[in-house]
Amino acid sequence: MNIAVVVLAAGMGKRMKSDVPKVLHPVLGRPILSYVLDTVDSLLPKRVVVVVGHGAEDVKKISGSKKVAYVTQSKQLGTGHAANCATQALKNFKGNILILNGDFPLITTASLKKFVNNHEKKKADISILTALVDDPSGYGRIKRDQKGKVSGIVEEKDATREERYINEINSGTYCVKSSFLWSGLNKVNTKNKQKEYYLTDIVGIANRDGLNINGVVVSDSDEVMGVNDRLDLSYVESALKWKTNEKLMRSGVTLVDPENTYIAPQVKVGRDTTIYPNTHIYGNSQIGRNCIIGPSSWIEDSKFGNSVTVRASCYVTNASVRNNITIGPFAHLRPDAEIMDGAKIGNFVEIKKSKIGRGSKVPHLSYVGDATLGKDVNIGAGTITCNYDGVDKHRTVIEDNVFIGSDTMLVAPIKVGKGSTTGAGSTISKDVPSGSLAIGRARQTNINDWKRKTKEKGRKKAK
Ligand code: UD1
Ligand code: CA
Repeated sequence: MNIAVVVLAAGMGKRMKSDVPKVLHPVLGRPILSYVLDTVDSLLPKRVVVVVGHGAEDVKKISGSKKVAYVTQSKQLGTGHAANCATQALKNFKGNILILNGDFPLITTASLKKFVNNHEKKKADISILTALVDDPSGYGRIKRDQKGKVSGIVEEKDATREERYINEINSGTYCVKSSFLWSGLNKVNTKNKQKEYYLTDIVGIANRDGLNINGVVVSDSDEVMGVNDRLDLSYVESALKWKTNEKLMRSGVTLVDPENTYIAPQVKVGRDTTIYPNTHIYGNSQIGRNCIIGPSSWIEDSKFGNSVTVRASCYVTNASVRNNITIGPFAHLRPDAEIMDGAKIGNFVEIKKSKIGRGSKVPHLSYVGDATLGKDVNIGAGTITCNYDGVDKHRTVIEDNVFIGSDTMLVAPIKVGKGSTTGAGSTISKDVPSGSLAIGRARQTNINDWKRKTKEKGRKKAK
């Protein structure tokens, strides 16, 4: 679209009572501002300027690869002042400027497109995206004249009793002709209860100047829910959760208890997959078809193929899990765990930076880190790859068809050749040639008649 965008994200969010800048608080695992920036990005605007201030360095980190210019508002003197901070960055831009708050993550591309198109069609000087709500508290109220034309916005703190009854609220989204914006902003003052420069005041200014003001009501008021405090944060998360879960269920995913299932909207889930309660799936994750996930598992930035079962209470981050695989219960797949087709990861198993080959099994109580396992390997219970010598990490290589006996310590760097076996309880610190049996444990000694001898000793002492 032929627009420039200004996102206001400098406020500290006093009402959050937090050390973290408000726009960085997560909703379904992602910062609020990331949602807004993504939506803005999909409008393909000519320029995007983000106004930062409180926690600027951290806020700047989240734009990722997007082309965004930052301007700093060093003192947070109000939304009008914040918008004015973008003057320099956009002074050469002639056209419509879309200004929006950085604290309302649910706004959609479709609604913003419709809003800007409407602004262009009506040839308005300024358009305001509004919403009709049951409970307008906390928001600025839209004032309309007898003809229904928007004449101004009054903040709740400055509103009279009657004005507070108005249930059309300001979403904090405006589309303004650049020719009016900067001059209008210069007329904003701090004569209000909060002694701040209100961006909303430019609407009254436009009215006094006899400009064309266009109020556009959003069709779904949930989209403009802003986050000011932790309660708002929970409302927004709940709304997004329902929207996402509804879409998934309609696309053929079973959510046993959608109220208690947390899936980020960007996550893809294949049909005939069933997800049990208290499961969280966030980040850049993808789940294939016919999977069974949960209850109570946490999956982040991970990819799963088809027919994968993740049993109760697994924690999976940055892992890649192929097809026909069972994980857990109580398994921990850490970054760069790569589990190939037909493998099995059982209970109390931790896998890090390791490839588990096709059909291989790590069924119980093991740590596998910095390892490469071939096909059809069996890892006995209690096995540990001793990958860390206190200074460096070392690799373990276990070739196809190896049988690792229970409670084997594999002291890396080490290689166990094809088809070998290690004896239970061994500490293996030398490479094992293919096809051999490696035993590294103390030989067993039996002392005969032990019980009788100890009894006699006891009797002598008693005398
Ligand atoms: C604002 C609007 C209100 C509207 C509501 C919608 C004003 C005066 N009021 O109120 O009419 O109903 O949004 O959610 O604009 N910010 C800065 N610098 C500042 C102050 C704020 O960058 O000096 C940023 C904040 O980071 C935030 C956004 O502007 O992303 C809105 O600020 P906030 O304080 O949340 O405004 P509201 O009180 O919600
Ligand atoms: Ca707000």
